[in-house]
Amino acid sequence: MTNLKEQIESRRTFAIISHPDAGKTTLTEKLLLFGGAIRDAGTVKGRKTGKYATSDWMEIEKQRGISVTSSVMQFDYNGTRVNILDTPGHQDFSEDTYRTLMAVDSAVMIIDAAKGIEAQTLKLFKVCRMRGIPIFTFINKMDRQGKMPLELLAELEEVLGIESYPMNWPMGMGKDFFGIYDRFYNRIEMFKAEEEQRFIPLNEDGEVEGSHPGMDEVLYEQTLEEVMLLNEAGNEFSREKVLNGELIPVFFGSALTNFGVQTFLDTYLQFAPMPSPRESSAGPIEPVQETFSGFIFKIQANMNPMHRDRIAFFRICSGKFERGMNVTLSRTGKPMKLNNSTQFLAEERNNVSEAVAGDIIGLYDTGTYQIGDTLTSGKEAFSFEKLPQFTPEMFVRVSAKNVLKQKHFHKGINQLVQEGAIQLFKTVGIESYILGAVGQLQFEVFEHRMKNEYNTEVIMERMGDKIARWTTSDKVDEKLSSSRSMLVRDRYDQYAFLFENDFALRWFQEKNPDVELYNPMDQH
Ligand code: G4P
Repeated sequence: MTNLKEQIESRRTFAIISHPDAGKTTLTEKLLLFGGAIRDAGTVKGRKTGKYATSDWMEIEKQRGISVTSSVMQFDYNGTRVNILDTPGHQDFSEDTYRTLMAVDSAVMIIDAAKGIEAQTLKLFKVCRMRGIPIFTFINKMDRQGKMPLELLAELEEVLGIESYPMNWPMGMGKDFFGIYDRFYNRIEMFKAEEEQRFIPLNEDGEVEGSHPGMDEVLYEQTLEEVMLLNEAGNEFSREKVLNGELIPVFFGSALTNFGVQTFLDTYLQFAPMPSPRESSAGPIEPVQETFSGFIFKIQANMNPMHRDRIAFFRICSGKFERGMNVTLSRTGKPMKLNNSTQFLAEERNNVSEAVAGDIIGLYDTGTYQIGDTLTSGKEAFSFEKLPQFTPEMFVRVSAKNVLKQKHFHKGINQLVQEGAIQLFKTVGIESYILGAVGQLQFEVFEHRMKNEYNTEVIMERMGDKIARWTTSDKVDEKLSSSRSMLVRDRYDQYAFLFENDFALRWFQEKNPDVELYNPMDQH
C-alpha cells in the first residue's frame, strides 16, 4: 500500500490546450526532452502528417494498425511521472477532444503572444472551467514581437473571466528579448546566455545587486516598474485558488528556443495536483486503495476496413492495473478479464507494466465499451459521474443511400450515437435525421464506420454551423420552427432549437420570451 501510495502521489496527468499553431507540439516536444522520453527534437512533429493533415486517421490507416502513441505521452521527471494527454485540434477537433479534458487533473494553456486568446483555446478553457481543474498558462513566442504583456494579461482576465498571476514577467520581446524577471524564484533568467550563467539572482527588494553587463538600464527600470505595478495592483498568489481553478499562474517563454520551458515545468509540477478523489454513484472514490477502477473517456475506431478493432482510452481513478485482472463493467454488470491493454509511451508502445491511478491505459475493444463506461475490480459495482454533453456546432442531414437498408441504417446510427461518436436529432413533424458534432472529423468517422461496420452508405447533406439551445418549456410546438430556428428533439426526446446564427437566436428570444433556452455547457 505504501508503495502504491507513493506511485499514485507521483502522478501528474494533464492536457495542453491551445489554438492550432500556438506551439503545442513544440512545447510538448521540449517537455519530453526534459523527461528523456525522446532523444531528438522533431520526433513528435514527425508524427504529425503535416499541419493540415485531414486527420490522425490517415496516419492510422498508413500504419495499418492502431498506433496512437501520441495520444498519451508519459515520462519521468524529478521523481514525478508525467502523463500528457493530447487534445487534437483543427480538423481533428471532436467531442473526444473535450472528453479528454474529463480525464486530466490539470491543464496547460498555451497562448501565442502575438495572437492572444483564440477561438479553440477559449472553447477548451470553458470545458476545463466546467470541471474546476487548475489551469496554467504559458505565453509563447516571446522571441518574436507580440502584444504588450500587460495587454495580454488584461485580455486573459477579460475574455476568460478569471484572475491571473504572472509567475514571471518578460523583459522586452522579439529582437530585444532579454529574458524573464522571475517573481517566483526571485531571479532573472537570461534569454541569450550560457546555460551556467543563465540566472541573475535578485536581492530581497527584487533588484539586481550592482550592475550587470549587457542589461539595458532602461529595460531593467521599466521591468521593475511593471513588476511593482503587478505587486501593488495585481492579484495575490494563492495556492488554494490555483488548485480550485480560480487563479491562473502565467509564465512567459519561447518553446522553440527552449527558453523558460524548464522553469515552467519545475514550477508547474510543484503546484499541479496529483490524482484526486472522483465522484461516483457510491460517493467519492479515493485514488489510493486496493480496488482498481476508472472510466472510458474516448474510443478510437480504426478507419481501416481490414482492422475493425478499436482502442478504448481508460483513465485509472483508483488502485493499480494488473494484466489479466477481473473487473466488472458497471453499465451491464458483466464480468470481464483485462488481458489486452496498451500503455502509451512517446517512442514505443508497450504492454502495461505498471499503471496506477492517474495513468491512462488503452484497452482493445471489439464493441463492448461505450464512452463513459466504468470498470471496477471491487465487489460492489459503481459508476463514475456521467460525462457531460457537449453542445454541437455543426450539423448535417443524414439518410441511407439505399432505402432498402433502413434497418442497418437505424441500427448503425443508434449504436454510434449511444457510443458517443456523434449526436442525433430528429426534426419535428415530418421526421428526418440530423447529426450534430463539434468537429468535422466526427462526421467522417461516422460515415466510415456506417459503411464498414454496418454496411450502409449514407448521404450527408451539410447544414453548416448552428447554435443549438435546449428548452424544457412546454410552450414549444411546430409553429415555432422555421429554417432560421429549427425545432428538433435530441435522443432523449428533449426539445432543442438549431439557430442559424446569433441574430436568429436573439430575435427568437425577443419574440418568445416565455421559451427559456439553455446551453448544456453552461449548466455545470
Ligand atoms: P501547434 O502544435 O500548436 O499547432 O504548434 P507548433 O508547435 O506546430 O508550432 C507552430 C509554429 O510556431 C511552428 O512554426 C513552430 O516552429 C512555431 N513556434 C513554436 N514555438 C515558437 C516560439 O517560441 N517562437 C517562435 N518564433 N516560433 C515558435 P512553423 O514554421 O509553422 O512550422 P515548422 O516549419 O517550424 O515546423
